[in-house]
Amino acid sequence: MMKTAFQQWLQDRFGEQVRWNEPMAAHTTLRVGGPAEAYVAVADAEALRELVAKCAAENVPYFILAGGTNLLVRDGGLAGVVIDVKKGLKDIRRLPAREEALPVAAGAGANLQALCRFAIENGLDGMNFALGIPGTVGGAITMNAGTARGDMAGVVASIRLLTPDGRFVERGKNETRFDYRGMVIPGVTDDRRGQAVIVDAVLELSAADPEEVRTEADALLQERLLMQPTSAWSAGCFFKNPPGGESAGRLIDQAGLKGQSVGGAAVSERHANFIINTGQARAADILALMELVRTKVADTFGVMLEPEVRIVGE
Ligand code: EPU
Repeated sequence: MMKTAFQQWLQDRFGEQVRWNEPMAAHTTLRVGGPAEAYVAVADAEALRELVAKCAAENVPYFILAGGTNLLVRDGGLAGVVIDVKKGLKDIRRLPAREEALPVAAGAGANLQALCRFAIENGLDGMNFALGIPGTVGGAITMNAGTARGDMAGVVASIRLLTPDGRFVERGKNETRFDYRGMVIPGVTDDRRGQAVIVDAVLELSAADPEEVRTEADALLQERLLMQPTSAWSAGCFFKNPPGGESAGRLIDQAGLKGQSVGGAAVSERHANFIINTGQARAADILALMELVRTKVADTFGVMLEPEVRIVGE
């Protein structure tokens, strides 16, 4: 439980921007999850800095919420403060060209699809790999989001972060270790005082024929619509593809699990690596289905799938 003095500070500083006992189901694309003790949508980087520094100093846990697209919050909810960065920090703009590279600055809260559209409209090549991936720029960098055509590691030039003691630091891509669906910046993201928060980033794109980029974009989006249950409530692909090149979706499909359900959670009939909320699911249903899928795939193929979705809360 949060101390009264901290609650009072939060209320005084953020007023109507604070919501108490806010259901996380309203902020995740899986549409499940219990309440956040407090929820604040910050308007800008300065508000973010103040809030993170205060939480870290007072030992109040804080959780950075971006798109909520790759997130499973348990039914007991989240202790401390959930800080929503997707309502502020949304700016996307071009920076002066650096030789061949055409840089674009994007706020962590900017929608990844808005960034893809911005690139297309400006005749910039390099973001089409991310077409159709839901979420925010900050979330996509944190997860090194990607598809068979590329990932964030391929376009990020530098990242600006906020450290728990309230300092802004900038790191180049050679100081950033991206891997399959993850990212580490030694000395920054491993800070034990609290989570470092991405504020914005510079992406390096290249010149392209606007018509070509647009045509390619249309084809990729069409393909995605056919292959994936894009309108269902889901967190995208639920499991990471296991090492060795096999696809988790294919293994789950071959194990005969398409359509398998637990309560309101079901394995998508369209793409087996999507667990969908059919309407009334609780986080517990999704977690139980996740375990059922892992056990069946392990028994059938000897492969233990690991979730790509981040699972948090109590
Ligand atoms: N497959 C099946 N049954 C299924 C699903 C897939 O047999 O139900 C087969 C497909 O026919 C294909 C193979 O599995 O031969 C691979 O499928 P797909 O092309 O859909 O790729 P994926 O490995 O399942 C990855 C990413 C997706 C991304 C696609 C397209 C991961 C975990 N998934 O999926 O990302 O959209 O490639 O590039 O890396 C996400 O991260 O949330 C996500 C959806």
